[in-house]
Amino acid sequence: MQKNLPSPVKKPFTLLRRGSARVARGAAPEIAISVRDLIVGFGDNLVLNGLDLDVRRGEVLGFVGGSGTGKSVLTRAILGLTPKRAGRIELFGSDIDHVSRAEYDALERRIGVMFQGGALFSGLTVKQNVQVPMREHLKLSPRLADELAMLKIELVGLSLDAADKFPSELSGGMIKRAALARALALDPELLFLDEPTSGLDPIGAAEFDDLISTLQKTLGLTVFMVTHDLDSLYSICDRIAALADEKVIATGPIETMLASDHPWLQAYFHGKRARQFDPSVIKRGANGAGL
Ligand SMILES: Nc1ncnc2c1ncn2[C@@H]1O[C@H](COP(=O)(O)OP(=O)(O)OP(=O)(O)O)[C@@H](O)[C@H]1O
Ligand SMILES: [Mg+2]
Repeated sequence: MQKNLPSPVKKPFTLLRRGSARVARGAAPEIAISVRDLIVGFGDNLVLNGLDLDVRRGEVLGFVGGSGTGKSVLTRAILGLTPKRAGRIELFGSDIDHVSRAEYDALERRIGVMFQGGALFSGLTVKQNVQVPMREHLKLSPRLADELAMLKIELVGLSLDAADKFPSELSGGMIKRAALARALALDPELLFLDEPTSGLDPIGAAEFDDLISTLQKTLGLTVFMVTHDLDSLYSICDRIAALADEKVIATGPIETMLASDHPWLQAYFHGKRARQFDPSVIKRGANGAGL
């Protein structure tokens, strides 16, 4: 993830602990990702300008926006891979500019990333790709690393003989599953997915949605998911945040998006390719209410 690490710690780092904290009834939700006043640009191209965003622990947040508006840039900025010009980014309550290298490493271990397009290493097999984060962060014997990698490969629904295949030998759907297996390598609490279903046929996309949803529920994950896929937004996202005009212009459940009068949201959710509003497919909380 981040190679040029920021300045040393200024305050004790108290929130590095594993296990999903359940939010007490009535209490404010715990925040996994907090972004404030973020500015990111490349030369004269200002991509994000004053962006604010919160991702709550245990939720699936769908992140939408037009092509080229900065969704991947935001993902990479949160991960410390793209430098920001200004702003504050906190992961699990820790300002990433003010943690030591050891603390940053500990944070990295709690995070899994599936990059847009998979970004598998072409010279490595699926199993070796899944083992990359393990090699970076864990000292495992080759046998244990093999066993763990095979578990992840199975978990994402790939057949075990896919393990020894190279990315060029995989279908698009298999690449996505392999990339997800790698993102899950370290048993993360927080998963970043950049357009996980793009390019899949509708059946494959629905299967992938189900897989993400099952993993999120069984592993208690927090998921930040960039997507253009309206089906994913309706069926597996608890909340949605929309990016336009270099900022997050709306955040909330699908109903909030549907009710917005922002022109981009109107076009996106009510335009020609938008589906008819069908309340029965909206993800519901345990009490039956939209979140
Ligand atoms: N490393 C970079 N150097 C210069 N410009 C960049 C870089 N990365 C992204 N950009 C620019 O930032 C803008 C946002 O790009 P980004 O990849 O975040 O779009 P996106 O919202 O993810 O689009 P898509 O939906 O097509 O994936 C684009 O104008 C892009 O050209
Ligand atoms: Mg992108």
